[in-house]
Amino acid sequence: MTDDLLALKSDTDAALAAATDLRAWDAIRVAVLGRNGTLTGLLRDLGKTAPDQRRERGAALNQLKDALNTAIEARKAQLETAALDTRLTSERIDVSLPVRPRPQGSIHPIARTMEEIVAIFGAMGCTVSDGPDVESDWYNFGALNIPAHHPARADHDTFYLPAMGDKPPPVLRTHTSPVQIRTMLLQPPPIRTIVIGRTYRADHDATHSPMFHQCEGLIIDRGLTLGHLKGCLTDFLRTFFDIASLPVRFRSSYFPFTEPSMEVDIGWNRKTGELGKGGDWLEILGSGMVHPRVLANCGIDPREWQGFAWGMGVERVSMLKHGMPDLRPFYESDIRWLRHYGADPLVPTMLHEGV
Ligand code: DAH
Repeated sequence: MTDDLLALKSDTDAALAAATDLRAWDAIRVAVLGRNGTLTGLLRDLGKTAPDQRRERGAALNQLKDALNTAIEARKAQLETAALDTRLTSERIDVSLPVRPRPQGSIHPIARTMEEIVAIFGAMGCTVSDGPDVESDWYNFGALNIPAHHPARADHDTFYLPAMGDKPPPVLRTHTSPVQIRTMLLQPPPIRTIVIGRTYRADHDATHSPMFHQCEGLIIDRGLTLGHLKGCLTDFLRTFFDIASLPVRFRSSYFPFTEPSMEVDIGWNRKTGELGKGGDWLEILGSGMVHPRVLANCGIDPREWQGFAWGMGVERVSMLKHGMPDLRPFYESDIRWLRHYGADPLVPTMLHEGV
């Protein structure tokens, strides 16, 4: 190798040794091997070399190029190892520190479903009303136009409590409808309210529990029609199930406290359980225009005020929304089930846009 080539090699070696980080190293690489680098320039000038010396000069340049490449890559490896070592010592983790525990709790799906229902009807302007679990016969049945010996009483599998005096025995409320009566007696119309709470019936299997939850709605105003009822419940169901095109069907039915009465069905696929399409219908709630006799029982003049009402099972809509096949685990406190179906307490109830 000629002197100029030997000098280039030793200068590069010295510069590499002086480089203490990868940025300095890269500057040297570019200065020697880059497009305008020293060695690149020498190789380009090879054509100007006298033909008799060109072969020898070419071989020397190639030899130098290999040597420089090797030296440059070797220094890179050294600098990378050093950088990693520095990082490893500076980022040391004390594994003896206790792990910060993640919160284990979750919101029970019934509580979460109730929050969602309240949020949706709340956005429509409803308040939430409350009543006792133990009701008199009159609130639970009589005022709702279900007199003694009415066949509808037989459907309710009522839990009767010991009678006091000669009054009919009190009951564990079989539905949330008695709170309609309490609300109408307590406040003058217009009324927009929902009731959400525990109800009781002597029935127990995969889809029935002796204690379950209902959501009742009561809207009283002037000039209310079936159209208002249909719009309100359709909006609710599409928002709750988060399916904008959910098919909703109103089917005429009978309840003693409404006239006319309608059961509400949503579209689903009976085979797969998927909601929103599939051509089958699933009954989801009961509703109707408040019976004039019920309004009159509460001192509201049915010629001036109309109302609509509805009732639905909280567990039922929760099961449908989350694809749960069985009702019983709701009450079993199985920690694995709660972890699976429980909601994150830090995620607020989501509201559908435009509610
Ligand atoms: N109380 C009824 C039940 O438990 C549900 C219901 C139906 C409530 C129609 C209503 C209504 O307010 O209008 O089966």
